[in-house]
Amino acid sequence: MNTAAPEYVIDVHGLNKHFGDKHVVNDVSLQVARGEIFGFLGPNGSGKATSIRLMCGLLTPDSGTGTCLGYDIRRESAEIKRNVGYMTQRFSYWEDLTIRENLDFVARIYQMRNRREVVDKSLEALGLQSRASQLTGSLSGGWKQRLALAACMLHEPKLLLLDEPTAGVDPTARRDFWEELHRLAARGISVLVSTHYMDEAERCPKLAYIAYGKLLA
Ligand SMILES: Nc1ncnc2c1ncn2[C@@H]1O[C@H](COP(=O)(O)OP(=O)(O)O)[C@@H](O)[C@H]1O
Ligand SMILES: [Mg+2]
Repeated sequence: MNTAAPEYVIDVHGLNKHFGDKHVVNDVSLQVARGEIFGFLGPNGSGKATSIRLMCGLLTPDSGTGTCLGYDIRRESAEIKRNVGYMTQRFSYWEDLTIRENLDFVARIYQMRNRREVVDKSLEALGLQSRASQLTGSLSGGWKQRLALAACMLHEPKLLLLDEPTAGVDPTARRDFWEELHRLAARGISVLVSTHYMDEAERCPKLAYIAYGKLLA
């Protein structure tokens, strides 16, 4: 986090992005306050994932400005990547690695020095110690999703960007997942979560609705 602790963990203005002649993100502005769960609702193809990539500096907007955790989304994407937890829609873990190996792999990516300890703590928090050497592919959908969330939390980010984390997950697992998000928010972690499920939007104190790349409400 920058020294001048920003009021908003995400503060973007007038973001636009085209792919070819397709206007995928159309003048999107939004602010997410610290410790807030912010829902990003919209149908498939409405530009949620692209907006999230713009906000964390993975893509450069054609126009528009903003900050994420106080870092400039155009110039400081490396800092943003180091400091946010980002869960992609089709999150990646290796089905044929064990649960421990998957977490250890992520810890290596973040070049953590205390890998063993961090991974052990994460396994304990998940309640998966006894299954650490089980292949990830053998987990249920809900457990895979919890593992993916734990993986993007290993480096203790203050902001989570979750891109349709519950797509294709059964209703019980979805409910558990949302309860977990509220627990994280209670610890001061900010969460931007995109979804195309209307019912999930009800669980968000703050909400933006996007369609055809444009914020509508
Ligand atoms: N890298 C890309 N190149 C070209 N088109 C893309 C790219 N990424 C996304 N799109 C298109 O942009 C639109 C919005 O996609 P996306 O942001 O993934 O929406 P959502 O996450 O809301 O489903 C879709 O029509 C998609 O096909
Ligand atoms: Mg998507």
